[in-house]
Amino acid sequence: MRILGIETSCDETAAAVVDDGIYVRSNIIGTMMEDFADCGGVIPEQAARRQLTLILPVIHRAMEEASCNWSAIDAIAVTKGPGLLGSLLVGTMTARVLTSVQGKPLIGVHHTLGHLSSPWLQMNIEDPASPIMFPIITLSASGGHTELWHRTSHTRGTLLGTTKDDAAGEAFDKGATLLGLPYPGGPQIARMATEGNPHAYPFPLPLKRDDGYDFSFSGLKTALRTAIGKRIISTKETQDLCASYQEALCAHLVDRLRKAVDAKGVVKEVHIVGGVSRNDRLRGMVQEQMNMRPLPPIIRWPQRPSFCTDNAAMIASAGYFRWLEEGSVAFAPFETAASLPLVHSVPCNSL
Ligand code: KG4
Ligand code: ZN
Repeated sequence: MRILGIETSCDETAAAVVDDGIYVRSNIIGTMMEDFADCGGVIPEQAARRQLTLILPVIHRAMEEASCNWSAIDAIAVTKGPGLLGSLLVGTMTARVLTSVQGKPLIGVHHTLGHLSSPWLQMNIEDPASPIMFPIITLSASGGHTELWHRTSHTRGTLLGTTKDDAAGEAFDKGATLLGLPYPGGPQIARMATEGNPHAYPFPLPLKRDDGYDFSFSGLKTALRTAIGKRIISTKETQDLCASYQEALCAHLVDRLRKAVDAKGVVKEVHIVGGVSRNDRLRGMVQEQMNMRPLPPIIRWPQRPSFCTDNAAMIASAGYFRWLEEGSVAFAPFETAASLPLVHSVPCNSL
């Protein structure tokens, strides 16, 4: 089954061709991050206008790199939400026109279900796909959401916890703005942190006494603002602040992940996905946790950095598994929505 995926929820214009939900034949990402480097975030109208200019060339290139024509495509999967409405509409309108002109079914995909599908994407068609074993605990941390899921199939699961305020990536981005670093802040903080001391500033672990699975990042952001104060900070101080702030953000993510794994009994795999899963310190911390007290034997991260941040291969994959597990329900008409909880689009077994 070959699916063309389209993702335009924010500041990436992406198209990909994926076979059987796993094998990535092409994965094209047109990014406009540089446009917003000095803005501290994305300007929605400007992002939508750039999506318009990029969408057709990006789809064209994805088809070309996959060496396929329309007759080889079985369906189109597109991000239906959540995200910036203008950007989303460029993707969904394009997908609607293409499916109608080419006579293909259309699958609307929740953006987070896309991220949740990213660990089984693989580039090399020659490699055998390793079987996925459920139940899985997935930590999905991006610029728009931070969630913990207990999953019993590709499209079924229970939301265990979510953020009470900012998302983890948003906390990186806002922290970078406070430190005078460009957008997106995650990679900038990670880069500066490599030269800094993670124990220079003792930022508190959020929700230490809370026994749920929720996250909170706004307190850390305030602590960072207080630590910076009104002074001009040196490069060394910036490096130390980045390292300490990153340490606290990652410790909070890993603390909640550990707790969910410990509480849920049999868990076969742990997945960590979303833009923040590119963070090397987060990866190191998960490894340290495993060395201290074993996590389930299989820990999966998206195979490539480009599968962590927004991409269309994950949308094609999620579309495929929706089709596989939900049948024709996957082709149901949908609305494009800026705000869209996944709990309503993923059937939950238990809460
Ligand atoms: O998943 P994603 O591409 O888009 C959303 O769905 O939001 O995630 C983007 C987020 C941004 O907030 C960015 O700062 C963060 O992922 N990010 C990182 C790293 N690379 C990207 N955060 C921490 N460390 C990184 N290396
Ligand atoms: Zn995303």
